Amino acid sequence: MIILGINAYHANAAAAIVVDGRLVAAVEEERLNRVKYAAGLPVRVIQFCLDQAGARWSDVDHVAVPRDPWARLGTKLRFAARMPRFALDRLRVMRRFAGLREELCAAFEIAPETLRAQFHRIEHHHAHLASTFYVSPFDRASVLSADGLGDFGSSMSALGEGPRMRVLSDVAFPHSLGMYYTALTQYLGFCKFGDEYKVMGLAAYGEPEFLQEFRRIVRPSGSLGFRLGLKYFTHQSEGADMSWRDAASTPVIGRIFSPYLEKRLGPARQAGEPLTQRHYNLAASLQEALEEVLMSCWNGLARRSNERALCLAGGVAFNCVANGKIFDATPFERVFVQPAAGDAGLSVGAAFAVNHEILGRPRGFVMEHAYWGPQFTPAEIRRVVETIGPTDGAEIAEMDEAELVKTTARHIAAGDIVGWFQGAAEWGPRALGNRSILADPRRAEMKDILNRRIKHRESFRPFAPSIAEEVVGEYFEQTHPSPFMTFAYPVRIEKRPIIPAPTHVDGTARLQTVSRTANPLYWKLLNAVGELTGVPVVLNTSFNDNEPIVCRPVEALECFRRTRMDVLVLGNFVIARKRAAGDGGASGEQFAQRKN
Ligand SMILES: [Fe+2]
Repeated sequence: MIILGINAYHANAAAAIVVDGRLVAAVEEERLNRVKYAAGLPVRVIQFCLDQAGARWSDVDHVAVPRDPWARLGTKLRFAARMPRFALDRLRVMRRFAGLREELCAAFEIAPETLRAQFHRIEHHHAHLASTFYVSPFDRASVLSADGLGDFGSSMSALGEGPRMRVLSDVAFPHSLGMYYTALTQYLGFCKFGDEYKVMGLAAYGEPEFLQEFRRIVRPSGSLGFRLGLKYFTHQSEGADMSWRDAASTPVIGRIFSPYLEKRLGPARQAGEPLTQRHYNLAASLQEALEEVLMSCWNGLARRSNERALCLAGGVAFNCVANGKIFDATPFERVFVQPAAGDAGLSVGAAFAVNHEILGRPRGFVMEHAYWGPQFTPAEIRRVVETIGPTDGAEIAEMDEAELVKTTARHIAAGDIVGWFQGAAEWGPRALGNRSILADPRRAEMKDILNRRIKHRESFRPFAPSIAEEVVGEYFEQTHPSPFMTFAYPVRIEKRPIIPAPTHVDGTARLQTVSRTANPLYWKLLNAVGELTGVPVVLNTSFNDNEPIVCRPVEALECFRRTRMDVLVLGNFVIARKRAAGDGGASGEQFAQRKN
């Protein structure tokens, strides 16, 4: 039984394939077409999924699409009557989905009779809920989805039990936590699609001085819902203008905060304008008001379901700062967050919804790791390494695994910046130890060095640590696993000076806990670093430089060439830049190594 899930004609286009109830592959189109948040029809990743399953189109039994044009029809029609431009836009999208079978046949050059699969439409938020609950380790759980907007809904909660979910609440347009966060992110001068996480990082520098006003902008409503102060927004009066030219372009979202917001809070920050304490306090107020609403929803859900397990999806589930507070602020004891919580994850959700709810098949799969993307053979990696010439000024050594781990750990401990490319690419936006740039977390200056030499990110944005799961409690005040970097926990106060580079200004860190079973090689590396330095932690940032995370070996090598990375570990090859005598780690940015 082969089910293909496709998120198409929407940001974060992606595909996933489920064979006999088990996920076989899942990947975002941006990783293959190299366009951040790519929309359109994800032709490349669909082909990848088919290849991974060893399937041809004629083998595919079901195609699942996370879009239902008939969902919330009344709300849509009311809005469309007020806004003809919006109605036309919706009609265009509906037509594209109606023609999906033909578009697939055209894109893959197959005859219509080859594509014998049955097509299914799964409502957007239902697919988000399915994307997290059906791959979670829980038989029963509360489930919550919250994002900007999909199928005219912005949030849905449910009680999951075995292969079924019972919907408990549904919040429809125009009320939306995602729209709230996006509007205020724009107001703070971050206007690119996907900039919300920057503002979450900014919030740690401020105090929630404007919280009273923000409680007028968004507030809890009932036990499971929330409302926006609509005067502060324009998406309900003028539409939320999200567009992209074609599959090869990043989506653009138009301004959605109103002049009234500026009247109440002062002029919006222009992109590039210096950040002041006022901006930090606005970001802190934005985050605090969101957390108040989420706490209300989470606690309401806990009361309704009486469950101690929670599953989260939707873009809001990437708010690791809020997620980290669940354990102290709610009765929930175990929480699963889909690693591709945003709309890419819909492809997984739609496929599993078909598997369980339409085909009636039992549960039998748990997403224990996030490594569902492309993987390359030693021969493919060797071919790329052979292209390295004398002009690259690098020394190349091939090693067995034990030597590779020891050598990489030595480089990290010596202050080198290491590109680490291993195994299958990660599913979701976080690098989790297969496409990562690694560095020594003990060096306070490492954040600036990384930014200066490779990442070129805003200086206020934190870097994240990976830690062996056995020692999480020694370093953090929470020990609940965070395998997909979806929780931020306070670093123990006495450890903050030990790992200053990935500790944010508020004393928290968005950690990845690494288990021996989920990623044995990365776990060994963390332990080797621990043996060498006494600290089994590395700073882990995504392997890229203002582009989608590298996917293929050649992209890793290009990134190494383009930036001032010291070492590239590509499969079993260690490629180290030659240094002048006396030029130590981090190109002379020396550090007096201390053993803790
Ligand atoms: Fe969504």
